[in-house]
Amino acid sequence: MKKVAVFPGSFDPITNGHIDIIERCNHLFDKIIIAVAYNPEKKGLFTLEERLEMITNIYGHHKNIIIDSFEGLLVHYAKKVGAKIIIRGLRAISDFEYEFQMALMNRRLDDKIETIYMMPHETYSYVSSRLIKEVFQLNGSVKGLVPPIVEMKLQEKFRKKLNK
Ligand code: PNS
Repeated sequence: MKKVAVFPGSFDPITNGHIDIIERCNHLFDKIIIAVAYNPEKKGLFTLEERLEMITNIYGHHKNIIIDSFEGLLVHYAKKVGAKIIIRGLRAISDFEYEFQMALMNRRLDDKIETIYMMPHETYSYVSSRLIKEVFQLNGSVKGLVPPIVEMKLQEKFRKKLNK
């Protein structure tokens, strides 16, 4: 039986912290599905299509990495795609409470699906999509913290915003 894992998130945008987790998991599973959550209530900086496009630019050529989006409950999506594992990254203690609640709620919803946590390299322990957007918007450098395609898209996005 193939080991399929889903790596869900907002990915608004994907960071090198996410990439670090994906790389660490790559040899552990036969297939990893990077699943971008679509939440119409939560307006991000990038549209769902833009997030998917950036991830496809990075991982589109990997045979065992699938890029997808989902709406609704994560466990329903995981079951639909045949994933028994949910991968989440854990950067610091501050992540723990939210992750703990989410893992237990997901387990209650479907106890055949397990959540596993991966620690990114310490270089990325303070990196979050939220901080990346904030720093970039205030003209700080995010070089080395996001893939080059994300840096490029951030530039385009904020240029467009400034011209509005
Ligand atoms: O990158 P994020 O924002 O930390 O990812 C959170 C995400 C998208 C994984 C989480 O909000 C989620 O699973 N949303 C889908 C809806 C759902 O299943 N909610 C119940 C989770 S306990």
